[in-house]
Amino acid sequence: MVICLRHALPALFIAALISSSLIAQGRPTPNPQLAAKGLNTRVESLLKKMTLEEKIGQMVQFSAGFATGPGAAEKNTHFDDLVAKGEVGSFLNVVGAEATNHYQHIAMEKTRLHIPLIFGLDVIHGDHTVFPVPLAVAASFDPPAAEIVAHTGGVEARADGVPWVFSPMVDIARDPRWGRIIESNGEDPYLGSVMARAWVRGYQQGDLSKPNSVAVSVKHFAAYGAAIAGRDYNATDMSEITLRQVYLEPYRAAVEEGAATMMSSFNSINGVPATANPFTLTQILRKEWGFDGFVVSDWGAVKELINHSIGDGPTVARKALMAGLDMDMEGNLYGTVIAQQVRSGKIPESVIDEAVRRILRVKFALGLFEHPYVEPGPAYEPTAEKRALARKVADETLVLLKNDPVEGVGALLPMTGKAKKVALMGPMADNQRDIIGSWSQGDPKNAVTLRKALSERLGDGLLYAEGCGLLSGQDAVTLNKVNFGGSVASAVGGNEVPDDDQTIAAAVETAKQADVAILALGESANWMEGEASSRVHLGFTGSQEKLLEAVVATGKPVILVVMAGRPLELKWAAEHVPAILEAWSPGMEGGHAIADVLFGDVNPSGKLPSSLPRAVGQEPLYYAQMPTGRPATGVDLSHIPTDSPSKFVSRYVDEENSALFPFGWGLSYTRFSYSKPTVSRESVPLKEVLASGHSPVVKVGVDVKNTGSVAGTEVVQMYIRNTDASVEQPVRELKGFARVQLAPGESKHVEFPLGFDELNFYNVEVKRTVEPTTYKIWVGGSSLATEETSLQIVE
Ligand code: BGC
Repeated sequence: MVICLRHALPALFIAALISSSLIAQGRPTPNPQLAAKGLNTRVESLLKKMTLEEKIGQMVQFSAGFATGPGAAEKNTHFDDLVAKGEVGSFLNVVGAEATNHYQHIAMEKTRLHIPLIFGLDVIHGDHTVFPVPLAVAASFDPPAAEIVAHTGGVEARADGVPWVFSPMVDIARDPRWGRIIESNGEDPYLGSVMARAWVRGYQQGDLSKPNSVAVSVKHFAAYGAAIAGRDYNATDMSEITLRQVYLEPYRAAVEEGAATMMSSFNSINGVPATANPFTLTQILRKEWGFDGFVVSDWGAVKELINHSIGDGPTVARKALMAGLDMDMEGNLYGTVIAQQVRSGKIPESVIDEAVRRILRVKFALGLFEHPYVEPGPAYEPTAEKRALARKVADETLVLLKNDPVEGVGALLPMTGKAKKVALMGPMADNQRDIIGSWSQGDPKNAVTLRKALSERLGDGLLYAEGCGLLSGQDAVTLNKVNFGGSVASAVGGNEVPDDDQTIAAAVETAKQADVAILALGESANWMEGEASSRVHLGFTGSQEKLLEAVVATGKPVILVVMAGRPLELKWAAEHVPAILEAWSPGMEGGHAIADVLFGDVNPSGKLPSSLPRAVGQEPLYYAQMPTGRPATGVDLSHIPTDSPSKFVSRYVDEENSALFPFGWGLSYTRFSYSKPTVSRESVPLKEVLASGHSPVVKVGVDVKNTGSVAGTEVVQMYIRNTDASVEQPVRELKGFARVQLAPGESKHVEFPLGFDELNFYNVEVKRTVEPTTYKIWVGGSSLATEETSLQIVE
């Protein structure tokens, strides 16, 4: 069997993008989803009828529901009046038939031109049906899984009157101190681009006019994930080559896939705030990529430009608008200071027209003029079908980090038949709120915890003790308030400051009665993950590490399940715990999915989308590092004396350079072997590569075999290294992957195409190109792949 894979453009776009060398340089291409027949004529004829105030009204968005940022309470609440006067074009955080229809009736019936509102919402990992968080979905290396999550969330949002989702977040995140890594696809631009396309496809379904399609807002443009020191909202500063080659790639992919809208980011890029950045918003996005949707600011970001010290209110609003920012989310500036500047000639009305055109185009494309309202439907039910979807996706996202044999028992996982009594402990074991992860629209009450899932399987064989809360001392009381409004929702962590020593002692007694102990540890979804949740310590919070150490000290075999939205520092655990499963924030079927893997009903297949550090001081840590003149590779430098001949190499004196668990890593209950990869041609003329556009010029082939005794799925990964470029290139870059299912003893041949898309880089003139060189190529089951071949590009 031959599998040939390329996670690139669907046929529709390939057909549209024939002139390949132009594509290579980013020649704009129209978005077919926003170019339906007659659409522009309708936009133009409406635009002609609009007054300046009505136009500006389309560019204003308010949150008329719950707040997802600061300052919402300060603003006015007479939204009915604003809508009736045509002074608002969009709301966010207004959800459900009743609320959305209320405002929509006013817009359609009371305004002069009957222009519908567009409602937007953060549908981040499903809507009512809560799937694993995006970082976990990336760990599946399965684009169709992302499509399922997006599609399901989009359909549910649309049924709630919301045709526009603030998703996907495609920011490259290489620093887990940044809490929003949870919403990302991790550290890699290739994986990030493939997943970005899949999310867009899932939401928009290639056709915005379908009744179940929703428009995406790809966020946060741009380079928000590179916040200096991982501190949220902080500045970013990088070369234009890195900006384009690493950080912008997933946005570019999303635009090529037909993304209807983008959201600008809070950060500045090389000194210019992204919300008022003509280089990113106009030069790159519109002129080079041909984006013809609209750009909304992030929450309050236009007004926050004042804090960036680039002017007063009227100035910053003008700067944002002139830079290409079409809609002001919650800034309350476009609506108040733009009109006067148009009248005084400071802002050409043509700029307003262009922004309004872009907004109306999306409203028309979504069919909002024809179908502005939503039929009230039945209340959401977490049906068996929805649960099955959430469980299937979660099953694929779990990463088995370690499964070392234990004396007298062998490998602890899968557990089937190995233990009669199981002790389950830890603050994530029975925690509905935190298992679903940050930014969940769904109800935590629908979540299946690990305790519930294990008790379904083990009945009386399951012993349970929480052991400790996610936080200790007064912090635990605060967390309880944040999560549960102060109600005592768990055995540990009510309104009393908990006594962790006592509860840990009780957990140790529980562990002693069992054959095996499972510890479910992690992070608080509300408190430590997502926006405004940067951390400088990446260890377990509160007394969790103490609990882990105490249980390990009992001598019972321990399985650690980590439920967290970011790579945590697991060094002690990796040295002392034989089996570790990275479960992220696995969503409402998380407990079942973890149990599926623990018991071997599902053979784990997830791979790390983000390197796990040995110590936080290594961050930002990623596999695609640039080479140095003094490489430390291949030498264990952790214990060398400082006067050693190896002193003057690029390393830390107190820790190894390598990741604790690297990008692409993930074990299975079976083993896979790889043949030496081959290339279909050993050398290719440069001219041919430059002219190839999206077509491959070479295929890299490899045989993968399941050499174990159970069926399994391997994520086969191809990495390349450009060894002789005019600008130095990373030591390895992922350029292809495929999920391959193999029965015991079965072998499959996998082929990866290589062409301009995979081989290009940005030269000193910041142009995407390929040069004569040799590419080293590795294929294997992680970024440590050793099976190697090469390809030459010749003059
Ligand atoms: C976040 C965005 C989000 C917006 C609207 C902001 O604070 O950065 O990701 O879409 O709020 O809720």
